[in-house]
Amino acid sequence: MKKSATNTFGILTSGGDCPGLNAAIRGVAKAAYGIYGMKIIGISNGYKGLIEDDTRVLRPEDFSGILTRGGTILGTSREKPFGKVKDSDFAVDKKLDAIKETYKKNNLDCIVMLGGNGSHKTANLLKEQGLNVIGLPKTIDNDIFGTDITFGFHTAVDIATEAIDRLHSTAHSHNRVMVIEVMGHNAGWLALFSGIAGGGDVIIIPEIPYDIESIKNHLNGRAKSGKEFSIVVVAEGAISCEEAKMDKKQLKLKRKEGLFPTKGYEIAREIEESTGMDVRVSVLGHLQRGGAPSPYDRVIATQFGTVAAELLYKGEFGKMVARERDNIVAKPLEEVAGKIKLVPKEHILIKNARMIGTCFGDK
Ligand code: F6P
Repeated sequence: MKKSATNTFGILTSGGDCPGLNAAIRGVAKAAYGIYGMKIIGISNGYKGLIEDDTRVLRPEDFSGILTRGGTILGTSREKPFGKVKDSDFAVDKKLDAIKETYKKNNLDCIVMLGGNGSHKTANLLKEQGLNVIGLPKTIDNDIFGTDITFGFHTAVDIATEAIDRLHSTAHSHNRVMVIEVMGHNAGWLALFSGIAGGGDVIIIPEIPYDIESIKNHLNGRAKSGKEFSIVVVAEGAISCEEAKMDKKQLKLKRKEGLFPTKGYEIAREIEESTGMDVRVSVLGHLQRGGAPSPYDRVIATQFGTVAAELLYKGEFGKMVARERDNIVAKPLEEVAGKIKLVPKEHILIKNARMIGTCFGDK
């Protein structure tokens, strides 16, 4: 066998936890250690551990038996080493020096980073600083540019769908409108998939600003046709047509000063006031991110992980593992960094859902 380009690599998980992180760690580690004999340094709590040199050598017993475990055995954080620090960028410089020191001290040839959008942006900045990084796309939001799928997403879809199924019981027993809010600040993939899978009558996603009149007309129409209950699936980052005209600052201020804890509550109140229907709200929150990964996510996380091990061996650094159609590919980090994959308004699933009468709240 040709000599491996990597002797030692560090591995970290960054950003919000999601199902499949441990499956991916296991995939990289088993292949890198078992086939190529690489030394693996576990870095705790995302980029924070990289700054603080919070590291330990991972042994086979660390990455065995973790396939089904939720969360991440490494811990995670939302630390952004390049985040602006008020009036000076001294702290950024200091963090960067510390990162380079950790990299050197541990004799790292590369860092494998399991993260979402922001974390890949950071990975690319580290690449620009001369560090070798390989990214693996994780998030329940499925919004990472350059990959058709992220691990974590399908488990969250399964959880949200089950919740919608259960809410149907109360909806039809009490003739109520049940509003369920799922995660997704910028992208509505989770609301779209779980909404369709759960038979949501209305699906509100951030990419399609909603008009409360449209929602009202749809719900009234259902009631007139004898369907006196409805399920409304709302992404947490949904915006109204009026909000869509605001700039980011105005929107932030409106949300801060708003009367409602989350978007789901706001929409529920508007539905109640405009239709007189009995409405209840469920906010799914972090339940969507917890627990064992689905079989699908276990498979994709394992696949991404083993491909990352091959990249380490070949010395193909500075890339993110991605799925494109049915192929697993590696994309240069600069091609994906700083971008987001939103739901296109003309997405085929939106068309399909409209064909069965689903309302997206648009005018
Ligand atoms: O990025 C994943 C995600 O779960 C989003 O869907 C959600 O908006 C956010 O994280 C919540 O973050 P936190 O767990 O830090 O509150």
